[in-house]
Amino acid sequence: MTMLPAGRPLVAPSFLSSDFSRIGEEIRDVEAAGADLLHLDVMDGHFVPNITIGPVVVEAIKRHATTPLDVHLMITDADRYLASFAHAGADILTVHWEASPHLHRTIHAIKDLGVLAGVSINPATPVGVLAEVLDDVDLVLIMSVNPGFGGQSFIPRALDKVRTLRSILHSTSQPNLPIEVDGGVTSSNAASLVEAGADILVSGSALFKSGDYAGYIRALRGE
Ligand code: DX5
Ligand code: ZN
Repeated sequence: MTMLPAGRPLVAPSFLSSDFSRIGEEIRDVEAAGADLLHLDVMDGHFVPNITIGPVVVEAIKRHATTPLDVHLMITDADRYLASFAHAGADILTVHWEASPHLHRTIHAIKDLGVLAGVSINPATPVGVLAEVLDDVDLVLIMSVNPGFGGQSFIPRALDKVRTLRSILHSTSQPNLPIEVDGGVTSSNAASLVEAGADILVSGSALFKSGDYAGYIRALRGE
């Protein structure tokens, strides 16, 4: 899978804010509008105070999707479920640093399943904790809200975290490692995130409420 087509940010609509009763149409519409990845938020009611979807729904979405599935696991004990999500059709599996006591093992378990491995950090977690895994992961997801719900306001400190991470990456084997930002991303803050070093913009409520998916995706890309 090509993660980064040359020269522009990728947009990953977060289906948490989509109309789940019309999920097939929503997938078709955002793909026609230019979505690069479909961002699926998996929540377990333990790591985060909300419950969403599991592998069965991911598999159903996969049947409608032509773009890669970017599966964001906000769950404890992710190791138990990695194979189920991989078999359901996840192309990227991102786990949380805060929920992964054996993160190095988890990252390699994801890669052994033939899936790209992402690691995410919450707003209160400094980017420095990732130092020992930056050579191993396929992307880093910086949370710009506290995970659990769509429609929250962007936490501005996330911008500095993106900048700091990009500068740390310059001294690793992966200076161009994709940085994804998730939470409160809108057409107003997208340009500054990209300028700071973000490559993948997740957008849920702002995009799905816009009424013009193609126009909003272009706006997020700064086109
Ligand atoms: C939050 C989720 C996000 C969320 C983004 O826990 O990980 O993906 O759905 O939604 P917005 O863009 O509305 O903040
Ligand atoms: Zn997410």
